[in-house]
Amino acid sequence: MSVLIKNGRIITAVDDYYADVYIEGEKIALIGRDLKVGADTVIDATDRLVIPGGIDPHTHLDMPFGGTVSADDFESGTRAAAFGGTTTIIDFAIQTKGRSTIEGLDAWHAKAEGKATIDYAFHMIITDMPDERLPEMNKLADEGITSYKLFMAYPGVLYADDATLYRTFRRAGDNGTRICMHAENGIVIDEIIKEAIRDGKVSPRWHAHTRPTRMEAEGVHRAISIAEVAGVPLYIVHLSCADALEQVKLGRMRGIDVQAETCPQYLFLDIDHYDAPGFEGAKYVMTPPLREKWNQGVLWSGLKFGHLSAVATDHCPFCMKDQKELGRHDFTKIPNGAPGVENRMSLIYHGGVVEGRFSLNRFVELTSTAAAKTFGLFPKKGTIAVGSDADIVVFDPNRKETISVNNEFTHHMKVDFSTYEGIEIQGWSETVLSRGRVVVDKGRMPKTGGGQFIRRARVGEPLR
Ligand code: URP
Ligand code: ZN
Ligand code: ZN
Repeated sequence: MSVLIKNGRIITAVDDYYADVYIEGEKIALIGRDLKVGADTVIDATDRLVIPGGIDPHTHLDMPFGGTVSADDFESGTRAAAFGGTTTIIDFAIQTKGRSTIEGLDAWHAKAEGKATIDYAFHMIITDMPDERLPEMNKLADEGITSYKLFMAYPGVLYADDATLYRTFRRAGDNGTRICMHAENGIVIDEIIKEAIRDGKVSPRWHAHTRPTRMEAEGVHRAISIAEVAGVPLYIVHLSCADALEQVKLGRMRGIDVQAETCPQYLFLDIDHYDAPGFEGAKYVMTPPLREKWNQGVLWSGLKFGHLSAVATDHCPFCMKDQKELGRHDFTKIPNGAPGVENRMSLIYHGGVVEGRFSLNRFVELTSTAAAKTFGLFPKKGTIAVGSDADIVVFDPNRKETISVNNEFTHHMKVDFSTYEGIEIQGWSETVLSRGRVVVDKGRMPKTGGGQFIRRARVGEPLR
């Protein structure tokens, strides 16, 4: 099969030019002006941007959490991602305490296999790691699982103590792999939560008040310090606020290899969303919580000037009905997480490029290339170049949509609300190719399936 994308404006993290792209099978075979080649499929990209498929390095599909399971599985979640212009996700496999990580990985392979429409990879969530099981981490790296997430939050559930952090950080560093950190001091936060519940403060707003920004900043500081001593590259996930970003900047100024991602929810929404009428504030119960609005400007500047490296979604959808509902009388029982995998590209294009905060190149870097480079997918993914996978979005930079659970062009996620309901965006993923297959054709999906597991390279190594 061959595809020719004609007359588009090609944008990568560094390039900006007009050319045709010729795809043979799964790979980009030729790039040039007015290519004189025949193709099975010809896509006219006049007045469109031709960009690398988005890479979302933080999703939770089919994940048991908070007494329920996230509402999108690998079938619906990857479909929705494709509609939104994302062609690779890195999801999180979970190791159950006391059990092997390999068993956890096998379970996640079983959840995903044969269901995905786009390509996927896994980080491994490590909840405990006694010395005798450390060799598992070598095996994981050989299997293409070259990053691990550990949690300072959620004591008794996913929480890992500092000894576990140090032990896993050391081994990850020795193996040429990377640590992802959920940085919030969950031990102190749990004490604050107990005080709130004792005082009858049980509505969704208290989710935010019991998780102060200082406790996120403390987590970031501690993670950086441990990573520095252990000698491992660090990636802070879902960074939500200025206090935490300051710690990242300080670490980087000291020369520590620390990067951080933020998410659209922290750029577009704020703490006042918890005051939505009735129980509606539960939609925004995610961790870390939404912050005071002034943090948004600091985060946008962080993206612009490079202190923040990437935008992920932390897509972790729970329906209002039957799921968020579990915490109607006690915010601690509201499953933590919100949907967004479908909306990231449009939101970041709109907030970043349309609103004049950064360039088209930076948009591509933040939504695709940076994650590819950080997580061992580059140059197979994350760019438009001869030899790279033909993961390409033909992006309409002028199309306007209002994001809504009821808008067939912005909502395919299997969840009964939209985190970004009513937000108007300019910029829309019109046609999407995953390894040369047209998975979205002008807003319609001809066929589902075809996504593959991707074994990632170690830090600094290319992936072919
Ligand atoms: O609220 C969130 N973020 N849920 C998913 C789990 C996590 O901490 O990433
Ligand atoms: Zn987390
Ligand atoms: Zn997450």
